[in-house]
Amino acid sequence: MDNRFAISEYPDAQEVTRELDALIQKPIYGISKEALAGYEKDYYEAKCARSKAMISEAQQIIPGGVQHNLAFNYPFPLVFSKADGAYLYDIDGNKYFDFLQAGGPTVLGSNPPAVREKVIELLNTCGPSTGLFHEYEYKLAKKISENFPTVEMFRMLGSGTEACMAAIRVARLATGKKNIVKMGGAYHGWSDQLAYGIRVPGSKWTQSHGVPHFCFKHTQEFFPNDLNDLEHKLRANQLRGGTAAVMIEPVGPESGTRPLDKDFNKNVETLCRKYGALLIFDEVVTGFRLGMSGAQGYFNVSPDLTVFGKVVAGGYPGAGGLGGKREYMQYLSAGISSSGISKSKKHHKALIGGTMAATPISCVAGYYTLCEIERTNAAQVAGQMGDRLTKGLQKLIKQYNLPFVAFNQGSICHLETVGTMHFFIDWKKPWTIPNVINQTTVRKKEMEYMGAAYMAEGLVTLAGSRLYTSAAYTDEMIDEALGRFERVFQNIVVKTE
Ligand SMILES: Cc1ncc(COP(=O)(O)O)c(C=O)c1O
Repeated sequence: MDNRFAISEYPDAQEVTRELDALIQKPIYGISKEALAGYEKDYYEAKCARSKAMISEAQQIIPGGVQHNLAFNYPFPLVFSKADGAYLYDIDGNKYFDFLQAGGPTVLGSNPPAVREKVIELLNTCGPSTGLFHEYEYKLAKKISENFPTVEMFRMLGSGTEACMAAIRVARLATGKKNIVKMGGAYHGWSDQLAYGIRVPGSKWTQSHGVPHFCFKHTQEFFPNDLNDLEHKLRANQLRGGTAAVMIEPVGPESGTRPLDKDFNKNVETLCRKYGALLIFDEVVTGFRLGMSGAQGYFNVSPDLTVFGKVVAGGYPGAGGLGGKREYMQYLSAGISSSGISKSKKHHKALIGGTMAATPISCVAGYYTLCEIERTNAAQVAGQMGDRLTKGLQKLIKQYNLPFVAFNQGSICHLETVGTMHFFIDWKKPWTIPNVINQTTVRKKEMEYMGAAYMAEGLVTLAGSRLYTSAAYTDEMIDEALGRFERVFQNIVVKTE
């Protein structure tokens, strides 16, 4: 197993949690009104005219004018036309540091030639899809299996959401049990049954408009980093149809926005064994970003099923997959007959599909992306860049005496300025709920203003609070980016008392 990991020093989850607790007790600190007005006039109005014109047209036909939930809307979204390594370029010709990285898949940086050339070769010969088996389906599955000891078998799917759906179907079929227990605040895609307790722990169905409540009959959440709460749910479920699986984002909900104790995953594994539940690791973000063996290699945990996404297609479409132990994966065998794999034990196959799942283009891109990450030690290099960025941000936070919190798990960096996702809903104290809803709404708006300021300084972030680094960065580039963050930090004021 490849032992090079992105995390050089695991964050002290208790200390970070204390800092985040303190942040949400404080008034909101954000970009001053004058500075924001300056960015609007001198940057967005003066330098982003083509974006503005295109977005106002797009808004007529695309709801909201953009198609990604995390695309910034304030004062209007920008239109990007070029991506190269660590840089993005908009249609007005402005250049940005890319800390969004397409939402996580591009550990190598954008559009690496080593992958692009193989994709072009494939397009010249077979085109993007045929609906039939292609050798790269095998090559990619083998590459993943060689690096993840728990992945004896792998099936490629169209997205992380689909792979999460597949995982819980398999878990229910394999265990004959009903309930899925997930961590509050974690995101496992937007499927009906898993859109529960997303972003804000304790929020249950409240963030899932359009999903009927009955869909959540067998979905539960436990409080992040709280083993007692998890065990309590597992014990209670013994009398309510059992627990089919515990589903975990292994660095914590929302890619570690709430960090977990280092031994947390190992303890969850022990609880799963005790109560006969499968352990599902959602490695959509962490797989091949934390290292070639993902979070499970880093934490030395053996999940029964692993959900993949993002990096497994290297930023190309069709990024999803499920891997795991043979005894569980055979519930996914495709084809008219199940090829004799499961002759010894008759069982139902999980209903899984996708016209555009496992296309040659996603498999070829994924395969060469993983080869290139391994060859260049990209996960660890990206992690070193994340360390440099985080340390620099922490220094600036101190220098400007701000309540902000910066921490990282390798190349997954967090810059919490308002702590929106650190709130939680406590149903035992219903009178506190309106304040939580109000605070998260107001703070989200401030985060959007911060995002607008970062963007105007040439920094593209994920929703203004998460920063992914890639192996395309250098120390000099990180230092230059820090100079731009400093320009934003120079204009931070207290917004509310
Ligand atoms: C941890 C995690 N799981 C699942 C998903 C869903 O993946 P997709 O967006 O490919 O459907 C995401 C997406 O961001 C994610 O971060």
